[in-house]
Amino acid sequence: MKREVLSFFSVLSLPAVLAQISYSIPEEMPKGSLVGNVAQDFGLDVKRLQAGKARIHTGDDAEYIQLNRERGLLTIKEKIDREALCKQGTLCALHFQIALENPIEIISVTVEITDINDNPPRFEKEERRFEISESAIVGSKFLLEKAADLDIGLNGLQSYTLQPNENFNLKVHGQSDGSKKVEMILQKPLDREKQELMSLLLTAIDGGAPQRSGTMQIHITVLDANDNAPVFSQAVYKAAVKENSMKGTLITKVSASDADKGSNGQISYVIGNSMADNSKLFHVTEDGHVLLNGQIDYEIAKMYEIDVEAVDQGGLSDSAKVIIDVADINDNNPVINIISSSNSIGENSKPSTVVAIMSVNDPDSEENGKVRCAINEKMLFSIKTASNNLYSLVTDSELDRETASEYNITVTCSDEGVPSLSSSVTLTLQISDVNDNAPVFERSSYEAYIVENNTPGVSIFTVKATDADWKQNARVSYILEDSSVNGVPVSSYVSVSADSGVIHAVRSFDYEQIKDFRFCVKAQDGGSPPLSSNVTVKIQIQDQNDNPPQVLYPVQTAGSVVAEMVPRSADVGYLVTKVVAVDVDSGQNAWLSYKLQKATDRALFEVGSQNGEIRTVRQVTEKDLLKQRLTVIVEDNGHPSRSATVIVNVAVADSFPEVLSEFTDFPHDKDYNDNLTFYLVLALAVVSFLFITCLVVIISVKIYRWRQSRILYHSSLPVIPYYPPRYSDTLGTGTLPHTYNYEVCRTTDSRKSDCKFGRAGSQNVLIMDPSSTGTMQRLQSEKSILDEPDSPLESPPSPAASLSPYRSLMPTL
Ligand SMILES: *[C@@H]1O[C@H](CO)[C@@H](O)[C@H](O)[C@H]1NC(C)=O
Ligand SMILES: *[C@@H]1O[C@H](CO)[C@@H](O)[C@H](O)[C@H]1NC(C)=O
Repeated sequence: MKREVLSFFSVLSLPAVLAQISYSIPEEMPKGSLVGNVAQDFGLDVKRLQAGKARIHTGDDAEYIQLNRERGLLTIKEKIDREALCKQGTLCALHFQIALENPIEIISVTVEITDINDNPPRFEKEERRFEISESAIVGSKFLLEKAADLDIGLNGLQSYTLQPNENFNLKVHGQSDGSKKVEMILQKPLDREKQELMSLLLTAIDGGAPQRSGTMQIHITVLDANDNAPVFSQAVYKAAVKENSMKGTLITKVSASDADKGSNGQISYVIGNSMADNSKLFHVTEDGHVLLNGQIDYEIAKMYEIDVEAVDQGGLSDSAKVIIDVADINDNNPVINIISSSNSIGENSKPSTVVAIMSVNDPDSEENGKVRCAINEKMLFSIKTASNNLYSLVTDSELDRETASEYNITVTCSDEGVPSLSSSVTLTLQISDVNDNAPVFERSSYEAYIVENNTPGVSIFTVKATDADWKQNARVSYILEDSSVNGVPVSSYVSVSADSGVIHAVRSFDYEQIKDFRFCVKAQDGGSPPLSSNVTVKIQIQDQNDNPPQVLYPVQTAGSVVAEMVPRSADVGYLVTKVVAVDVDSGQNAWLSYKLQKATDRALFEVGSQNGEIRTVRQVTEKDLLKQRLTVIVEDNGHPSRSATVIVNVAVADSFPEVLSEFTDFPHDKDYNDNLTFYLVLALAVVSFLFITCLVVIISVKIYRWRQSRILYHSSLPVIPYYPPRYSDTLGTGTLPHTYNYEVCRTTDSRKSDCKFGRAGSQNVLIMDPSSTGTMQRLQSEKSILDEPDSPLESPPSPAASLSPYRSLMPTL
């Protein structure tokens, strides 16, 4: 309480203002507090105050102060708040008067109110929110609210503090109107990822004592900036998937994190390097599931590497590798490829001959790709592993086309997967023929019969040989082996048809000359070299009754007569003579029987039918004729039988002269001889005529042929060494009724030789020789011509030579 008494009372003032006084009090004094003792200060008696009805007069002002008339004191009536009373005015005082009556007196009182620190600085709002991007640069300014302090002077606002002040500084600028601007300045970058929310306390402090302060909470939300890229949890992801898995199969999950927030931290996954084909096989969902998006085949790729990218919406990204191992499943059959194979191999191929080489591949891996091959023909073939999936099919033993000419070899290859897959291929292998089988005759030897006097060229029988080989190697031709029968080449007896094995008789056989003969026929196949085998053929000639018996005794002579003598004294059974006859035939055909055909006296003689003995049957008498003539017929037993007759002259006499006189002639014989002479002359004339005619014809033919043969000799036609079957009687003798001379040129195949020999063949000459001896002579003369070294074959033949059939054979020999 301050008291200032202004004691300049003025007497001159009417009604006078007596006095003025000032007091000073702090604000906020409680009610009743003493402001000042007016009575005392003015020396007024309390009674005067009461009597003068002293009262305070304030005008409009509210009455903060009251007057206690009894004690003369001014006290606080209403609490005085300086700030309410005077605002921010620095000088604050209450002015009022104390008025007294009787006499009127006015005391002017001024009560100065002094400030006390009763108001803290105060912010208008208790808190303030800021949203600041973490990307705000250092030095960024943020205007803060000012605080207000109603107190003045020292009690007023003095300063601010900001706590904590790690990121921000506080700066206070004085302003021209005396107020202050408070700014928060970023001094260290914010990091949302470290601290997203900050709470700062701004404190305003006054200077009173005690000091008072006011605070404001500053909430800072750090706004995210896309300052963090996504980060994959692993740099490399490994996964495995079975081949042939369904589309959409989950392979793995990748995940990346982004420290940023919101869209800056929102990650989407994509497959990087999407140009590569691989990437189309896979698909990554938004949430990082790697799915299969196509067909994967272990055999195409065993492993895939894809790049997965994680991208936030701010465009920052990270990438990771996903390594996908493809697991094999046994989904491939082995594949058999034949690299080379032979369609056929020879049956003489040695064991271990390679038939085929094949490669077998199974693209699967491990057991699924391990392949084993086997074949069905285990006996003869085997399959061998070479290397690197190469297999060779080889023969395992000797082959024989004659056993099996074709094999279907099935190669089956299977892998070791579970279940195992397999495939197979069939190779057809032909076994080609090799000439390893000789022709085999159906029989080990042959025996055949032919009746003599056969027609030349007749087929006797057929030999047959078979050859187990094939085609040309089995084509059997029959060849007559050279040998000789009785010094004559067998080829003049028989010929063998090369194709059919038919054996032909070349000539007519005569049992009486040859009863049997043997020769060899060779069967030769067409292989190279050819194989052959032999068979012996025995031909037996069967007798025909072609020869009449021949009477050897008694000798029949044309001129002289031989007679047997029978003495007249001969007894019964006297052996007169013996007719001796032979028959060159054999067997029944040579079994002769004798009969008496005619006799002068049938009763006198008999002929032994078996032995031909002529005996007397009765006693010779004087009456019996001297000349006895017996005709004995000798018959053989053939069918039909042939016979010969013989005339036996018997003289029944005792002495030789007696006989001579009687046997000068036989009338029958003279007749017979005359006839014979006539016939002989006639025959000679006919033969001579024929001979001359033939001679002319043959000479002209020969000349023509000689010219032809010259042409043929000069042509260069290949001469095939072929021995045509010839039918000729080289001996030209014998007891055959006729001699057949044939020249037959035949070829087994119709080649050019046909033209060569065709003409010769058309000139077959049949010569019927009336006498066998003539033929013999001609043969000999022919031989001597042929043997002459200088005799040129091409020279025109002599007439004698042209008669011979052999001449025409020469070109073929
Ligand atoms: C081989 O196969 C072929 C065709 O399937 C068949 O015609 C032939 O008879 C077979 N050969 C053998 C020896 O099985
Ligand atoms: C065939 O017979 C001839 C003579 O008889 C002989 O030399 C030859 O070796 C025989 N050939 C065969 C294949 O038996």
